[in-house]
Amino acid sequence: VEVRDGIAVVTIDNPPVNAAGLAVREGLMAAAERIDADPDVRAAVLIGARATFVAGADIAEFDRPPAPPHLSDVIARIEASAKPWVAAIHGAALGGGLELALGCARRIATPDARLGLPEVTLGLIPGAGGTVRLPRLIPLRAALDLVAGGKPITAAEALGIGLIDGIANGPLLDAALALAAEVPPRARDAVLYASTVDWDAEIAAQRRRARGQASPVEAVEALRDAVTLPPGAAFAAERARFLRLRGSDQARALRHVFFAERALARPADLRGVAPRPTARCGVVGAGTMGAGIATALLLADRHVTLVEREAAALDRGRATIAANLADARARGRIDADREAALIARLTGATDLAALAPADLVVEAVFEDLDVKIELFSRLGPIVRPEAVLATNTSYLDVNRIAASAPDPSRVLGLHFFSPAHVMRLIEIVRPDGVAADVRATGFALARDLGKVAVEAKVCEGFIGNRVMSAYRREADFMLEDGALPQQVDAAMTTFGFPMGVFAMQDLAGLDIAWATRKRLAATRDPAARYVAIADRLCEAGRFGRKTGAGWYRYESGTSQPDPAVEAEIDAESAAKGIARRSFGADEIMARLLAAMQAEGAALLAEGIATGPEAIDAVMINGFAFPRWRGGPMFMRTAQGA
Ligand code: 3HC
Repeated sequence: VEVRDGIAVVTIDNPPVNAAGLAVREGLMAAAERIDADPDVRAAVLIGARATFVAGADIAEFDRPPAPPHLSDVIARIEASAKPWVAAIHGAALGGGLELALGCARRIATPDARLGLPEVTLGLIPGAGGTVRLPRLIPLRAALDLVAGGKPITAAEALGIGLIDGIANGPLLDAALALAAEVPPRARDAVLYASTVDWDAEIAAQRRRARGQASPVEAVEALRDAVTLPPGAAFAAERARFLRLRGSDQARALRHVFFAERALARPADLRGVAPRPTARCGVVGAGTMGAGIATALLLADRHVTLVEREAAALDRGRATIAANLADARARGRIDADREAALIARLTGATDLAALAPADLVVEAVFEDLDVKIELFSRLGPIVRPEAVLATNTSYLDVNRIAASAPDPSRVLGLHFFSPAHVMRLIEIVRPDGVAADVRATGFALARDLGKVAVEAKVCEGFIGNRVMSAYRREADFMLEDGALPQQVDAAMTTFGFPMGVFAMQDLAGLDIAWATRKRLAATRDPAARYVAIADRLCEAGRFGRKTGAGWYRYESGTSQPDPAVEAEIDAESAAKGIARRSFGADEIMARLLAAMQAEGAALLAEGIATGPEAIDAVMINGFAFPRWRGGPMFMRTAQGA
């Protein structure tokens, strides 16, 4: 605490993100006492040291019993202070950080600040008065979005809904001091903002969206309590709900994922290793994948040179990128000015020579080892000697691709998931001879792209596609044994997947996997169990949604189970002499999970994945495994299996 012209500046300094851990809470309590007791102090400004305000409660404390003073008490103390407090917000005011700001008489933020209540993403609801104070400050609809949606908003949006009182265009502290000087003492009045919602409808809608996750539904219920109970009872109800959720399995699982994703993004052996630059990127191949990668790079402010062999294909790629960016604008991710600026950073070429100045080249050409090897040997003499070369293969041998470049130490795999500018996962594939700073470049780039990075060593399919093939195989076995596609899919959606494995195949198209199976047929182990039902569907021209039929029949936008598919499955079972039996949803899911976990264990034994949390992060971010379950390997530990 430092007093300037009668105003106390209270600085929270708890690296890295000023989380409101025990020492911070004790410090704030002491500061409030001191400020109230000092007759020379008229008001206070609360600010964060370094790059941020307060990122919330200290999540690492949540596995221990709560220790007083609780954040809710600290905030109540600040709110009850005889002198008005002003929150000066830069960086992030999230969770308990925003709740702290809500306890202040006024709030002012820098233009680039982010404000939000992300507790639902950790399986929680706000636990320090957020649900009670928010609807007394902003419209109920906006409060619902913040509390149940969990997404942070910008300072401009916060100003628009009345969450903050102003935006500081000059130095934040100066603006906050000026505001503090003019706030009358005890300026707060807790009048409920007049708006109502249909709570039953709101809760039902949230339950459908949450697909088994409890916290978003509880968040709506907490807001309902906050506006229907008297404030004292509402505070108590919120606290009780928060503490119950804090100890729940879902919150434990979501904490596991939170810390796992952050640990995976910074491998211990790369600490202190400086990444190479990636300001100028090249992308070879302008198909859906290449265009998606180029879009992702543009959105992260890279200059991108897109290379295709034919001008027509290049034009199609440019059009895809333009459509991707238009979509990002439609979703409010970028505005029209930025869209135009990003398009201006894109250059097209039909000659690899255009990649000469690139810092990083990502290839996304046809998935064929010989094609990629040829490309890397041609790229070698063109690019600068320190440029990083990345392959976006989804299963090929990256060691062999690296060996084809003049300097294999500069080659790694960057496996994006489609659509590359939307999906959050990137597998960083580590060939045997790759340099540490080249790996570090992959991680730094992933971070700039806002993606979850998981490292994998080289094997066919890396982490994600290997686990997926394993459980798809298990799903096929169950078809032969007596289950139907719609039963497997229903078991998965009940578990929390947005879509089942057969509906997913229909969406992606069955023809590509069919082509792969035909190519690999000659090398398949004849003794291994092989389920040919998908082959039969493809032979009948059933490639999924795009042909109106696959595992399901598609008519006017809806999907129906198809008796013709059931007949095909029956015939396969009969031909193999399998007596079909019925499967319950629990047994289906248990077998799919066991298949994922067994493949995960194999990936660990082979050293492909660095730890069980790597497999969890891949399945959650690349394959829609329900995050609130913590991932297949987390569940395996929890089950003690
Ligand atoms: N508690 C403890 N540690 C935290 C933390 C928190 N609330 N927030 C971030 N950290 C740690 C991370 O684990 C990481 O540690 P590491 O360096 O050892 O890996 C470090 O801070 C930096 O975090 P990021 O890598 O995520 O840094 P970024 O700069 O990318 O992002 C951020 C910063 C936007 C603040 C991001 O960290 C974030 O979203 N944090 C979580 C915010 C949150 O969920 N807050 C709500 C907590 S629950 C709560 O407040 C309950 C209340 O209602 C009572």
